Amino acid sequence: MIPAMRKVVVAGNWKMHTTPAEAGELARTIAARMREPAVTRVLCPPFVCLAAVRDALAEAGEDVAVGAQNVHHELQGAYTGEVSAPMLSGLATWVIVGHSERRRDAAETDEVIAGKLNRALEAGLHPILCVGEPLAAREAGADVAEAIVLDQLRGALMPNAGEALTGLVIAYEPVWAIGTGRNASGADAAAMADAIRRKLGPPMVWDTVPILYGGSVTSANVDEFFAEPSIDGALVGGASLKPDEMAGIVARAGVTARARLAVASAMRASRST
Ligand code: PGA
Repeated sequence: MIPAMRKVVVAGNWKMHTTPAEAGELARTIAARMREPAVTRVLCPPFVCLAAVRDALAEAGEDVAVGAQNVHHELQGAYTGEVSAPMLSGLATWVIVGHSERRRDAAETDEVIAGKLNRALEAGLHPILCVGEPLAAREAGADVAEAIVLDQLRGALMPNAGEALTGLVIAYEPVWAIGTGRNASGADAAAMADAIRRKLGPPMVWDTVPILYGGSVTSANVDEFFAEPSIDGALVGGASLKPDEMAGIVARAGVTARARLAVASAMRASRST
């Protein structure tokens, strides 16, 4: 499949920022600055802010989806402090799975992440599965980084059948680029996206999966990623709390999304003549 057929996604990961009292207003302000219907826009506030963000966006009539930052790998049970996929029903339609901060701080393994991914897909949520190599792997060479990322993907996806990937989005987020102000190059991110699509086949399935880049994305560097046809959007952390930054990032995403829509409709027209 050509990139023209993949949707363009910009998701904001607010991490552990905002209270319920602050989140609705911030979501409304950001949403008003990123009105670009060709781009799928998602805001992922903390669990306790999901309802406030959902309500604020609905009241303002904004076409922005709400996502959670995590979900448990079991459906219910004695898991104090955890949130299951069915509990997110009505609150969120997207969910981030396997973020490197959770792999690091909550010791999430590929097996646990595979469970989360399955629970999310079963519940009809759109998962954003995060993968990415640590600095030492990148310094050891692109092939070492690629081997780690492909291992993470195989570990998380193995129990999933091919067709279950519908709705899945992958975020390539090199660990060393997250929150550091040091982003990967567009070319390196695209090479990783290509490796993911090439090595994980079957191509007809994998070509449809949007792959985002994440790691110190800002309105100033996002051009570099959208210049790459293999990259379908961005998972934005720090900059996603800033309305000006999100406005710039989504505006740039809109250029790519509208160019893709134009190619897709030209292809449809040429097929029907
Ligand atoms: P960052 O975070 O944009 O602050 O680097 C990205 C992420 O953690 O998803």
